[in-house]
Amino acid sequence: MDYKAYLADRIRVEGVTKEEIAEAIAVPPDPSLGDYALPCFRFARALRKAPGKIAEELAAAIPCDRVIAEVFALNGYLNFRIDRKGLAEDVLARIKKEGSAYGSSDMGRGKTVCIDYSSVNIAKPFHIGHLSTTVLGGALYRIFKFLGYRSVGINHLGDYGTQFGKLISAYKRWGVREEVERGGIHAINDLYVRFNNEATEEMEQEAREYFRLIESGDAEANALFEWFKALTLDYVRKIYDRLHVTFDSYAGERFYTDKMQPVIDELKEKGLLVESQGAQVVDLEAYGMPPCIILRSDGASLYATRDLAAAIYRKNTYDFDRCLYVVAYQQNLHFKQIFKVLELMGKPWASDMVHVAYGMVSLEDGAMSTRKGKVVWLEDVMDRCVEKAAAVLAEKNPALENREEVAEKVGVGAVVFGALYNSKIKDIVFSYDKALNFDGETSVYVQYTCARAASVLAKARAEGISWDHVCVEEPNLQEFELLKTLADFPDVIIAAAKNYEPSMVARLSVDAAQRFNKFYIECKILQAETEQKRAFRLAITEATLTVLTNALSLLGIGVPEKM
Ligand code: ARG
Repeated sequence: MDYKAYLADRIRVEGVTKEEIAEAIAVPPDPSLGDYALPCFRFARALRKAPGKIAEELAAAIPCDRVIAEVFALNGYLNFRIDRKGLAEDVLARIKKEGSAYGSSDMGRGKTVCIDYSSVNIAKPFHIGHLSTTVLGGALYRIFKFLGYRSVGINHLGDYGTQFGKLISAYKRWGVREEVERGGIHAINDLYVRFNNEATEEMEQEAREYFRLIESGDAEANALFEWFKALTLDYVRKIYDRLHVTFDSYAGERFYTDKMQPVIDELKEKGLLVESQGAQVVDLEAYGMPPCIILRSDGASLYATRDLAAAIYRKNTYDFDRCLYVVAYQQNLHFKQIFKVLELMGKPWASDMVHVAYGMVSLEDGAMSTRKGKVVWLEDVMDRCVEKAAAVLAEKNPALENREEVAEKVGVGAVVFGALYNSKIKDIVFSYDKALNFDGETSVYVQYTCARAASVLAKARAEGISWDHVCVEEPNLQEFELLKTLADFPDVIIAAAKNYEPSMVARLSVDAAQRFNKFYIECKILQAETEQKRAFRLAITEATLTVLTNALSLLGIGVPEKM
């Protein structure tokens, strides 16, 4: 149940909508001030009344019911105490009924969200810099889907550009088919790096010629290009599987080769294209931005040109309600320009485009050298984290079965969670030790809590104890705080979607895990004083496991049964 909405429904303030009131309701830091509070200061001016007076009048007008146990005014706040037993009954019944669907909704029914994420560059390293876009995009994809939207995941492949000319040239000089076949993306990268290290003007010229050959449809050049592309995709798909990330479309930049001319024509027709130093640009000076270059002086198209074509294609193909671009903040200007040009073209949907920007990820031991050279490959980070997870697990639980499988969930989960726990715009320094800390704000802490809850339930089952028919009791403080966090879950998912912020789901999972562990320590579950209390606590334990599992699965993180 959405408590904020429930309370907002009962609070009437002239000239303020229910949604605004719901948004303003907060959880007081001190539980003695109630479970929810509405600050009345913001209404003082409009109502020409002191906040204290407003709070008092509102409190007097709201009756208690089976949800609201108490309403009172204090220091300009309107405070509520929730009926704890009612909350316990509601939330336990709902979680039990909905199970793995708890937290989902159909608010997005009939609406489509396109999400452009990961968007790897063919024949280039899939490095640590791609972590955030891949896991943030993957999480948003699942979150929107969970809320009833149609999510369309798009991998806007970087498969266009002169680097492919270089690659072909390098392959023709030094490449051995079997070696490339065997080495895959790493062999391709080596060739590319070697070309750049040794390139002479003559080689550069040759590379441009090969690129031209790809463009003009030359069979051999295209076959090589497709081969490099297939090798890269084979490689990244394995990583996507480990990260539980999927795409509905791999239409990359090259896909738009024949879709740019109509855009250029439209820009011309609408008088938006001007010449500047031989190039064709859209002037954006009036908006405080440098011009958006559409065609270079040699007639070549640009990244921006393809993005304009892609945006129009997506609108025509998917009829999206929103189109998200999960791309690092370094491209802020690029997206501002693209969105502005679409607006100038008179596309009413230009305002539905959102750049979901995020910060940088670096490694604590930044100097870490990988076997592949200077860049830090994402795969290496994942492998190393899994290795370390296996070592930690061996120490903590030597008897653990299928340790490898558990280590994969724990290790990969730690990498994913590391990128999702903080608000997305923050730069992150990833530390293996911190990410694998069993007592930290980590996925392994949440996973371990799940295992703990599961083992309590298994023990109860083994002893033939049933908690199917719970007679809900008045919860104590630990029980109540935990239940309230579980009750907040559906709201938090909605807020995470609204703010494009999966970190909210990650934080709730840690919050709920912490509260469960407090409950676990303070309240006897299997040894509860009465059978009724035991059933109640087992039901709380099961509900917690459901919420934690749902939260982690929205983030793309698996939950081991035992740890
Ligand atoms: N491949 C690009 C890069 O690595 C990201 C593409 C993002 N998507 C887009 N539609 N521009 O920088």
